[in-house]
Amino acid sequence: MSLSQLAREIKESPTLALNEAARQLSERGEPVIHLGAGEPKSKVPMDAILTCAAKLKTGEVRYTPTEGIPTLVKSIIRYTEDHYNKVVDPGNVLATAGAKQAIYNLMMTLLNPQDEVIIVAPYWVSYPEIVKMLYGTPVIVTPESGRFEPTMEDIIQGVSSYTKAIIINSPNNPSGAIYSEDLIGELVEFCENKGIYLIMDDIYHQLVFDDSKWTPVYKYVKKDMEDSKVIVVNGVSKSYAMTGFRIGWTIANKKVTQTMTNVAAQNTSCPSVVLQSAAAGALAGLQNGVENLRLTLQNNANIMMNELNSFNGIKTVAPNGTFYCLPDFSAYEKDSCKLSKFLVDKARVVTVPGKEFGLEGYLRLSYCGTVKSITDGVKRIKWALDPESPNEIYIGDRKFRRDWL
Ligand SMILES: Cc1ncc(COP(=O)(O)O)c(C=O)c1O
Repeated sequence: MSLSQLAREIKESPTLALNEAARQLSERGEPVIHLGAGEPKSKVPMDAILTCAAKLKTGEVRYTPTEGIPTLVKSIIRYTEDHYNKVVDPGNVLATAGAKQAIYNLMMTLLNPQDEVIIVAPYWVSYPEIVKMLYGTPVIVTPESGRFEPTMEDIIQGVSSYTKAIIINSPNNPSGAIYSEDLIGELVEFCENKGIYLIMDDIYHQLVFDDSKWTPVYKYVKKDMEDSKVIVVNGVSKSYAMTGFRIGWTIANKKVTQTMTNVAAQNTSCPSVVLQSAAAGALAGLQNGVENLRLTLQNNANIMMNELNSFNGIKTVAPNGTFYCLPDFSAYEKDSCKLSKFLVDKARVVTVPGKEFGLEGYLRLSYCGTVKSITDGVKRIKWALDPESPNEIYIGDRKFRRDWL
């Protein structure tokens, strides 16, 4: 079969593949605990449901302007003012089908073949693949062992005359780390001096735990909006528990936004008007659901850290936000794909191998499920890995026996 060489080189999304594997196991009645998930379990905000239902009720579900319906664009402008202390124009906003499409269309807008994009490890799995899909070259920068935040020197080492953009994700998937205010300031200054695009993927910025601080990038931007190469990506998926609605957006100068709009007009025309209405409702409506989610995740993160700290040998760094943490399991097994598979096979716990995020020896564990799934999940991992564990345990109503170690 002759398929595009480029398309064949794109990796399957490991997280979506894991979700599918877990779903199939659960369907067969296996007692699976999913610590691999990337979406909150809370309900969609009522305001989102009401605006969405109201749109449906009109019976008129049509194309919209590519950049988004006016109520959504207005809500995004207000959101940017509230959370970033930055006033932007409608011409700086583009609504997209999720933050993922925002990043894809943005890369299509910015990259020429061979242009390089700096990506910091651990990174969100899709960044390198998206860059490759657009004939760009991902340049991975890895902070010194055990650190989840790069130094400016780490980043500068990856910069060359081909560097077109640096993409930053803080709070970070998969580590839960938040980059320091000093680093954000230095990054802005460096990119402004060098004329490099600085892309801030802020999709988790409302899910920040007490005593931690997220820095809105515009605090340090000196250039006028229209001369600035700072671009913000955000969306409703994570903070509003609206992953299935697929609404994200970008904030960028008008030239970038207009070119991105042309790209979007030729690939999706616009995000669905029903889903845009829901996102506008969520952004303009009561915000208490976001705070409840943040508090739940903070509590879950503490519980997971306590459970993990009862292990000998694994190294943990407490997350500052998101739904994830990234413990170092290399004392047990250096090959994270092997370890992740072993945990599904022997203890029916789904995790995501650190290798997928550019850090071998680690596993991403998510704590967006129930407290019971977190405590039972980590207990099962401990049982499977700790040679001192009892020989047998019950998982659901089935007895699992250690036939290894
Ligand atoms: C860092 C990061 N950026 C972007 C996305 C994509 O978000 P959306 O669901 O809005 O496409 C995700 C989703 O997992 C993510 O973790």
